[in-house]
Amino acid sequence: MSNALPKGFLSESLSRIQPSPTIAASQKARDLVAAGRDVISLGVGEPDHDTPENIKNAAIAAIRRGETKYTAVEGIPELRKAIAAKFKRENGLDYKVSQTFVSPGGKAVVYNALLATLNAGDEVIIPAPYWVSYPDIVLLGGGKPVMPETAMADGVKLRPETLEAAITPKTKWLILNQPCNPTGACYTRDELKALAGVLLKHPQVWVLTDDMYEHLVYGDFKFVTPAQIEPALYERTLTMNGVSKAYAMTGWRIGYAAGPQHLINAMDMVQGQQTSGTSAISQWAAVEALDGTQDHLPVFKKAFERRRDLVVSMLNQTRGLKCPMPEGAFYVYPDCSELIGKTMPNGKKVETDEDLVLGLLETEAVAAVHGSSFGLGPNFRISYATSDEKLEEACRRIQRFCGNLK
Ligand SMILES: Cc1ncc(COP(=O)(O)O)c(C=O)c1O
Repeated sequence: MSNALPKGFLSESLSRIQPSPTIAASQKARDLVAAGRDVISLGVGEPDHDTPENIKNAAIAAIRRGETKYTAVEGIPELRKAIAAKFKRENGLDYKVSQTFVSPGGKAVVYNALLATLNAGDEVIIPAPYWVSYPDIVLLGGGKPVMPETAMADGVKLRPETLEAAITPKTKWLILNQPCNPTGACYTRDELKALAGVLLKHPQVWVLTDDMYEHLVYGDFKFVTPAQIEPALYERTLTMNGVSKAYAMTGWRIGYAAGPQHLINAMDMVQGQQTSGTSAISQWAAVEALDGTQDHLPVFKKAFERRRDLVVSMLNQTRGLKCPMPEGAFYVYPDCSELIGKTMPNGKKVETDEDLVLGLLETEAVAAVHGSSFGLGPNFRISYATSDEKLEEACRRIQRFCGNLK
């Protein structure tokens, strides 16, 4: 019997999307580990910290209380109250509890919002480089991703004139992610004001902000979110956030958002026919994450900032790499254009950033993700959410690999 599926069995929408390149990169790294290589994996966007104890204890207490049943699709009232309070306390945003929404992860928030709103041909502006899932979710929803490029010289941030040029009568959403995965770039209040100025001229464009890395900004940098700086945008902004990164809760699967009531109601319809909401236990853990002590945050931030400084400094001492200093998240995105066209010791030519990243993995067993998969290259992304020792060793290997290119 053949293992192939019958012709036409798979949905056509599946042919429009690709497997996540970050997942593909970590699979390749796992294969090398299985083959006995000492791989340093800098491919995955996940904090190396453990979930704080108070959050774990809240989940255990919820299990003991029997909070193990279905919950309301849009989330338990206690968590929605904590979300509304968080937006008020940290962002100065007023949302009623009914305007908040909980999903199984930030990714699911984006999915629900886009599936609830996209019609065939609707355009979604996604500044490049971007988090890899956005274009694929737009494509699954029948929309058209429009991906204007940013420039390294602008700190890989969207310029107002680039935004203006990308907007058409069909534009439905702008997705703005900051601090950005993959670059770590975060917008100042003035930079956001300038983008808001463009959006005010185009009332058909809604804003989906992905503030997942809000708490991970370094030095004196102050995070602001679009609905906060331009009240006129509040009525057409979905402010998304989550506990995955800042609370080291990637496996708990909790993302959340707040926005205009009609949009939240529509997202509720989509989620109601999909996951029926989110794990009750994880939701109780997230209540503690948002309402409980935030003492772990300065500790996480200090570690990430130290690692950012270490990696940026070592990469900038590497032949052929230029690495901007990002404001936040736990990624750096060095420019490797000077290395394109060079030859590896095994005789293979580096034609693309993907060749470079593959060569680095095969030769020095360091896993990174090539920039063109995020829509802007030649670059590569390194996640520095790992120990200082591993990062130092990885950067030494990168220096050796780049130094050996001819
Ligand atoms: C920018 C951005 N948004 C959303 C997510 C998804 O978060 P979650 O794991 O909560 O679905 C990620 C995860 O990598 C991310 O980098």
